[in-house]
Amino acid sequence: MRPRVLLVASEAIPLVKTGGLADVITALAGALHEKNIEVSIFLPGYPSALAGATALAKVAVLDDLPGGPACLYRGRMPDSKIPVILLETESFRVRSGNPYVDANGDEYPDNAVSFAALCHAAVRICAARTPLAAPHIVHANDWHAGLIPLLLRSNDIKQIGSVLTIHNLAFQGNYPIELGPSLGIPADLLNPDGIELWGKLSFLKAGIQYADRISIVSESYAREVLTPQFGNGLDGILNHRKQAIVAISNGIDMRLWNPAKDPLIARHFTQRTLRNKNFCKQDLLAMFKLPADPFAPLLALGSRITHQKMADVALAALPAILDKYPRMQVVVLGRGERAYEDGFIELSRRYPGRLGVHIGYEERLAHALHAGADMLLHGTRFEPYGLTPIYSMRYGTIPIASRVGGLIDTIIDAGTGSTPCKGANGILFDGEQAADMIAAVDRAFKMFGNSDHWLTMQRNAMSGDFSWHDPVRKYVEMYSEIASAAAKPLFAAALSAKSCRLPDLAVARR
Ligand code: ADP
Ligand code: GLC
Repeated sequence: MRPRVLLVASEAIPLVKTGGLADVITALAGALHEKNIEVSIFLPGYPSALAGATALAKVAVLDDLPGGPACLYRGRMPDSKIPVILLETESFRVRSGNPYVDANGDEYPDNAVSFAALCHAAVRICAARTPLAAPHIVHANDWHAGLIPLLLRSNDIKQIGSVLTIHNLAFQGNYPIELGPSLGIPADLLNPDGIELWGKLSFLKAGIQYADRISIVSESYAREVLTPQFGNGLDGILNHRKQAIVAISNGIDMRLWNPAKDPLIARHFTQRTLRNKNFCKQDLLAMFKLPADPFAPLLALGSRITHQKMADVALAALPAILDKYPRMQVVVLGRGERAYEDGFIELSRRYPGRLGVHIGYEERLAHALHAGADMLLHGTRFEPYGLTPIYSMRYGTIPIASRVGGLIDTIIDAGTGSTPCKGANGILFDGEQAADMIAAVDRAFKMFGNSDHWLTMQRNAMSGDFSWHDPVRKYVEMYSEIASAAAKPLFAAALSAKSCRLPDLAVARR
């Protein structure tokens, strides 16, 4: 028998994605599968998920979940052997755009009940109350799945180990405490010793309180969340549960983000054929309708356009940067808060031919951006891990990023001297002011001016190992620690088993 893991989340590429969580869930599932673990991804049945999953079949009707009756479907992730389970409810079925907010950016009023339903359904699977095989470990991700460890406990299910992975502490799923009974939360847990947080009930706090292990997606963020500055009001409870916290860095899908094979970029390249990156640059400029200038440095911004990602700071810094470096060109790809989006559109009008903006969410453009730019500007007030700068490094695009969270662990700063420090693959900066960002861009430009130094940094960036190799081993070790006595040997065997390879994902489909 193989060990079974149920990976519960709200996003997984290519079915539904708003950020890095989606990349991580699918890549982690693939890496666990290669470790011979029987992993299933459990997601809400959003329209895109129901349409994209293959070989879907209805396996159960659950008629007593919060929010009303629901159907469980089982199928496979597209172009993959990984099973996916989808919970179709009346509320998930109509979420055809963003899964959390409506067209005006307002949170759906039924989010609490919808994600509570997802958690209850996961616990039904754990309790073997559906035709699906119960897992040995249930692995909940972010607040959407946060009630699962609590519900395992209130349903007295002891034989299944539970993990909560925190990808972003800023999103907590906090709702009026009066909703508790309608979400199936026992009344005796609706207090500060249970899941109350500042007068509300908190899905994320529920996960933190009751999961067997809390994993956090980088070493540095795992330290930061224990402080009031980064703890988002949960640092107290996280300190209380410190013994259960494990830092496990993410990896990236090295096959999907590979300049030597990526079907979404204009020309393939490696460290040895870096000159081909220039074709990707021309392609990117053309996509943004900017004129080609072979000597102009190209700076890219590609992320959610939000306060977290310092969109306000970038908007204040970019005019000064563009004025200071008259040949520089800038491309911006992102979507997020309306006022910031408008700010970037306004900048593109102010700097025609020099700054191009695409407001939207496009996987193909993201690949083109990482492949074609010289530098990636990635200011951020906090960053649990930060996949984006790693993708850029894979393509020899040097990140200029905030010195926070996972970025501290993955980016080696070039320093302030005239030659880059040993192993440098980027620029890190402190502070949240425009001046801090401008000074960091200045440092990058100094390095860019010396082609030998730049090439050294590009090669360092491209040779980093950000694979899932180590992270997945740590996950399996953690599963093994919290598995029931009967399941422990199964995980131990998986750790020592030879990998079974997955076929390459068909990237072009995305
Ligand atoms: P976060 O999860 O906080 O948004 P990450 O950098 O870890 O940050 O992950 C962001 C993911 O979302 C990356 O895969 C990035 O390429 C992608 N992404 C962000 N904005 C866009 C966009 N506008 N179009 C396409 N992909 C995007
Ligand atoms: C979150 C974080 C990001 C991380 C991603 C995947 O969205 O903001 O830093 O890389 O999750 O774990």
